[in-house]
Amino acid sequence: MCGIVGYVGSGPVSTRGLEVVIEGLRRLEYRGYDSAGVALVVPGVGLATAKKAGKLANLVEELDAHPLPAAGAAIGHTRWATHGGPTDTNAHPHVAGKIAVIHNGIVENFVRLKADLLAQGAVFTSETDTEVVAHLLSAAYDLTGDLTAAMATVARSLEGTFTLLAVHADHPEEVVGARHDSPLVVGLGEGENFLGSDVAAFIAHTREALELGQDEIVTITATSVQVTDFDGNPAHARRFTVDWDAAAAEKGGFRSFMDKEIADQPQAVADTLLGRTDAAGRLVLDELRIDEAVLRSIDKIVVVACGTAAYAGHVAKYAIEHWCRIPVEVELAHEFRYRDPVVDERTLVVAISQSGETMDTLMAVRHGHEQGSTTLAIVNTHGSTIPRESDAVLYTHAGPEVAVASTKAFLAQITAAYLLGLYLAQLRGNMFADEVATHLAELRAMPAKIQTVLDRAGRVRQIARWMADTQTVLFLGRHVGYPVAMEGALKLKELAYIHAEGFAAGELKHGPIALIEPGQPVFVVVPSPRGRHSLHSKVVSNIQEIRARGARTLVIAEDGDEDVVPFADEVFRVPQAPTLLAPLLTVVPLQVFACELANAKGLDVDQPRNLAKSVTVE
Ligand code: F6R
Repeated sequence: MCGIVGYVGSGPVSTRGLEVVIEGLRRLEYRGYDSAGVALVVPGVGLATAKKAGKLANLVEELDAHPLPAAGAAIGHTRWATHGGPTDTNAHPHVAGKIAVIHNGIVENFVRLKADLLAQGAVFTSETDTEVVAHLLSAAYDLTGDLTAAMATVARSLEGTFTLLAVHADHPEEVVGARHDSPLVVGLGEGENFLGSDVAAFIAHTREALELGQDEIVTITATSVQVTDFDGNPAHARRFTVDWDAAAAEKGGFRSFMDKEIADQPQAVADTLLGRTDAAGRLVLDELRIDEAVLRSIDKIVVVACGTAAYAGHVAKYAIEHWCRIPVEVELAHEFRYRDPVVDERTLVVAISQSGETMDTLMAVRHGHEQGSTTLAIVNTHGSTIPRESDAVLYTHAGPEVAVASTKAFLAQITAAYLLGLYLAQLRGNMFADEVATHLAELRAMPAKIQTVLDRAGRVRQIARWMADTQTVLFLGRHVGYPVAMEGALKLKELAYIHAEGFAAGELKHGPIALIEPGQPVFVVVPSPRGRHSLHSKVVSNIQEIRARGARTLVIAEDGDEDVVPFADEVFRVPQAPTLLAPLLTVVPLQVFACELANAKGLDVDQPRNLAKSVTVE
């Protein structure tokens, strides 16, 4: 979704503001966008703007061809189109009078506001909801001569979601921002300050940051940061230190961020496990700020999430129900909220989200709160909204995930969910301490096993390249292999634009087997033969059934599982692991397959078409 950067520096006017903003926008590219623009305040001259549809490179080209003058304050934006197509004119910033504004979110009452403004003679040049805000700000500023007060007035009149940044032609020393249901963080520099949709916008310059609360206005100058609520009352913003460094967000020599992030997965899982036991080996989840009595009293868990994060939730369901004997429902966040779900104060609503900003998931958390439920966020991005609005948070430590499609965050989410399951089992007495310790030891062995899967990925890459012309691929799995199959299909759709579907293997005979015809490629995720025997043998039967009908079987099986060999066209081996932990391994060849096939097709695996990293509108 839209990326936002703001900057004010001290000293003589220079090109630094523009450089900082362009660099920040580049780091926010992973959020997905379809146009970009900047506005500068040039002392004694006024506003200077540039904006272009398409990639940031188009804007940079435009700036090279028509350089902007040295400036004081600067704001920049990458837009993901909602109201009005991705054109130069609809790109932000939008200017009215002496004010330029950029916006992330949707102004839901813009039609009425625009009608009022048109009646007053305002002239609009774009189809966006944002231009309404520019006009409103300009009118409000004219009444007081104070940009911060104008922003507060306008923020109170808007419905919907927004992060706004504005600059005024006569104030090269300040940038004013507002946030409502949309992210905005402040970066604290030496003689300069920053604003960003997330910390990636400014981590090249500072790691010291302020987390803004809901419905707050911020005014930055080179040396000050002032935060108020929408009524102008002073507000307290929490200070934190960002533990990601700029290099962590770079490709590190890999062909793409996606390749790097797939390779980073052993580290992401290891880091998510780090520091979560005490000296006695007991699991301690310090961030979990929920009263133990409350956790003991819950009688149901509802996981709310979207896309890949929801598949992590499905894996969590198998583990938590098995370990804790608590019923777990997994619900797509957007369905949960509008379904009138039966949840109450004995329900734990677990929101899983990489970005911590997914609007559907945030709304589900709020709905859970309204019903009196306890809410817990499993989130990767510090300073984001979902953890702030939840009763507790369990951070995944995957580091910044830049590629739009999720890979390492998925493994980290599953890992964090396992930790939650074991913690609840420990707390509620479902497991003895030594049993918890055994599971933890098995979890700690997983990063090395994931590395083994990565080291063996040559064959899956080769097959992917050979299959670059494939039109459709099916994925089958059972038990925890079922969400893995769905995630494998999602990755292929997103990255390679190939029709793909994941099925529960047991469902095959109830319909999907009709799709099988000679040559149809089918990935099958096979459970461990050392787990529940009937589970393994049933999946082996499924492989036989589709092979008999001509399917090309691409089988993911554990080391030592020889039963699959006679029925497999290809076997991709993963190390032996406990049944419930196997998804951390079996999904990896499917990620590699999708990434490699997309690369073979010459596609941009980091920024697939139509997708946004952080979906901040419903
Ligand atoms: C798929 C993917 C999406 C996200 C979903 C939720 O590769 O990335 O399906 O998983 O949009 O995003 P977060 O986890 O940020 O809430």
